[in-house]
Amino acid sequence: MNNQYKSVPVLPSEITPKSLYLSRRDFIKAAGLAAGSALLAACAPQAAATPSGPIPQANGRTDELGGPFNTYEDITNYNNYYEFTTSKEGVAPLSQGFTTSPWTVEVYGLVNKPKTYGIEDLLRNFTQEERIYRLRCVEAWSMVIPWTGFTLASLLKEVEPTSDAKFVRFETVSRPDEMPGLKSAFYSWPYQEGLRLDEAMNDLTLLATGLYGEPMPNQNGAPIRVVVPWKYGFKSIKSIVKIELVDYQPSTLWNDANPREYGFYSNVNPERPHPRWSQASERRIGELSRRETLPFNGYAEQVAHLYDGMDLMVEY
Ligand code: MTE
Repeated sequence: MNNQYKSVPVLPSEITPKSLYLSRRDFIKAAGLAAGSALLAACAPQAAATPSGPIPQANGRTDELGGPFNTYEDITNYNNYYEFTTSKEGVAPLSQGFTTSPWTVEVYGLVNKPKTYGIEDLLRNFTQEERIYRLRCVEAWSMVIPWTGFTLASLLKEVEPTSDAKFVRFETVSRPDEMPGLKSAFYSWPYQEGLRLDEAMNDLTLLATGLYGEPMPNQNGAPIRVVVPWKYGFKSIKSIVKIELVDYQPSTLWNDANPREYGFYSNVNPERPHPRWSQASERRIGELSRRETLPFNGYAEQVAHLYDGMDLMVEY
């Protein structure tokens, strides 16, 4: 286990049992350690938990701020996915058997053209592009991840939200037989999230179907998840099956669990500490020294205007 991960504040504290650590090592070994670059494979109909070829390498690539890509290994072995477990290293081994095919996403509510999409339609009919985004977790760690996917806006335009639609509500699949974490009575399952319609329509907001040019690994939210790079990572809901257009601010799992700690907006804001820790800096996974956290996670130019006139210390 990499001890550097343990110095960041975590939600419930957790220790990885040795059995899980060992199976993680087996998983890495099984996936193969040879270097090589991957071709874009986002059109593969079924999501794979491990790369089809050699583990993809970053080859020195960085985000627009010069931050090196996190390794494929880090991105796929240090996860938050509470439906499986609260152990970050435990998600990868526990999610390997998760069924991601067949998969449908129902888009409904205040729209003119509600539609249930098969994952194959979404992969085929929407142009999959690569987006390099920083993921800044509320626990004050971050990663640079090369996602593949398409804009949520392109999907929403197709279903035509009505003029009454003000917010978008997302829901993760709920499969108690495959997701042992759903036994926890502490959270109000299924995992739900929400965005204001203009946030959902912003060009940064992605429906991600893969990373590092490979289909989305199960532990990262296969086969399709939301990625909202200027908000804390918990807004980026995984393995979605429902997208509902509504006229009210939807409840969200974290806001329900602890409204004082997790607001609806959850924009990355270095000036507003979490009640239990500072948000002024972050640990980039794989690095020893901390980085300064940027307003809106470094995407202020693209999104700060969405919040003109709002007091972001109050509406957090
Ligand atoms: N989505 C679901 N359904 N369940 C979760 O537990 N965790 C969130 C978010 N999406 C979570 C989720 C949190 S807290 C973070 S930081 C990111 O996923 C982590 O994404 P990653 O594991 O791909 O890095």
